[in-house]
Order: sequence, then structure tokens, then C-alpha cells
Amino acid sequence: MPSNRFTIPEIRARKGQEPLVVLTAYTTPLARLLDPHVDILLVGDSLGMVVYGMESTHGVTLEMMIEHTKAVMRGSSKACVISDMPFGSYQESPQQAFRNAARLINETACAGVKLEGGVEMAETVRFLAERGIPVWAHVGLMPQHKHAYGGFKVQGKGKDQAEAILRDAVAVSDAGAFALLIEGVPEQLGRQITETVTIPTVGIGASPHCDGQVLVTEDILGLVTDYSPKFVKR
Ligand code: KIV
Repeated sequence: MPSNRFTIPEIRARKGQEPLVVLTAYTTPLARLLDPHVDILLVGDSLGMVVYGMESTHGVTLEMMIEHTKAVMRGSSKACVISDMPFGSYQESPQQAFRNAARLINETACAGVKLEGGVEMAETVRFLAERGIPVWAHVGLMPQHKHAYGGFKVQGKGKDQAEAILRDAVAVSDAGAFALLIEGVPEQLGRQITETVTIPTVGIGASPHCDGQVLVTEDILGLVTDYSPKFVKR
């Protein structure tokens, strides 16, 4: 049966056009509810905290991502489904990243993967993209770096940090990422990145000037009660 899903080239074509609408989903019923209303369903590794009550995304395994991505695929028919690569499944080498990204795609039929990183991950992004794996790169506040930051903190406040994040964005865009997720940066930086890179940017607590926005669905619904990001309207 031909697929009616929103495609990676259609996402790329939305640069500077109608904003991309992205929400997270981890389960079949929620995917079913959201599917008619979004362009992309992100199976984020935030599921570790949101669904399993973990303190960070670090306990999330590739197997968990595969099962939740299968569930979201079953509940959707229109949205482009992208799955997060969990911590430790891609940072070691481009080959490790390819092996695990290929598992995510082969076993779930999702359209692409998201991974965190900038300059240091550009070689991996290129390796995957050149071998047919669409990569959504995630820069700015990278939750898998929680311990290095000492918590979930806005990134890019000072000039040097802002310049480094802009370099990250350009590096992964040049390496062939199909889109860029920008998390937790000052509005001016989100805007500057969006104006600089040629791929669509999707922001979360980044800037209304991004080419789209992503939110964690449970945050909007008020289901996560111990933490409420300032940028979320319930
Ligand atoms: O894991 C996740 O849900 C994310 C959010 C920042 C959207 O990456």
C-alpha cells in the first residue's frame, strides 16, 4: 500500500514557509489522536522521564526506542515519524551510529533518526546521510549532556557559547542533516541560526522565529506535574 506520510523532502521544502508542527508521541493511542494535526511525530528519548519517571534520558535503551517507535507507527498514517537515538547508541563512531540507526529504521519503518551534537557529530551525520539515513540534528541544550551542564540549563547565553552553537548548527547542516532541532537557547540566537542555515529549524524554548516548533505533548496536557517549562502553554 502506498504511504501517505509527510516525507523528508517535504520537511526540507518548508524552510521559510508554513511553520512545521511537531509533537512528541510514545504510544499508539496518543499517536492516533495527534496524527491528523501534526507534520512530524517525534518519538523522543524524553520518554525516559515522561513515561518511565527517570531523572534523565540516560536510562533509555535502543530496544525501548524501537518498541515505542513501532507503537507510534501503528497509531499514525500521515505524520512523518522520527525516532531519537538514545545516549550511547551513536557517539562512539559513525559505524556504531549507522548500525543502530539502521536497526531503528529497519525494525520500525520510521523515516529518520534524531541525534544530539554539533561540530563533533558532523562526521557521523555525513556518514549516515550519505548512506540513506535521514538525520535530524539537535543542538543548543542537549539533554543527553545533562551531567556535563550540571542540570538542564539554557545554553548560548554568552557570546562565546552562542558562537559555538552557531558553528554546531552550520556544521551539521553542511554535513547533510535534513533539519535542525534547537533547544533552550536565547531567542536572538535561535533567530540567527534559523537565518543562517539552509535547512528548517524546529525550536523548543528557542525562538518563535524558527521554521517550526516542537513540544512534549505531556507538558501541554499538564501530565508532567513536577516540572513545567516556561514556554509551554497548557
Ligand atoms: O526527546 C525529546 O522529546 C526531545 C525534545 C526536546 C523535543 O528531543
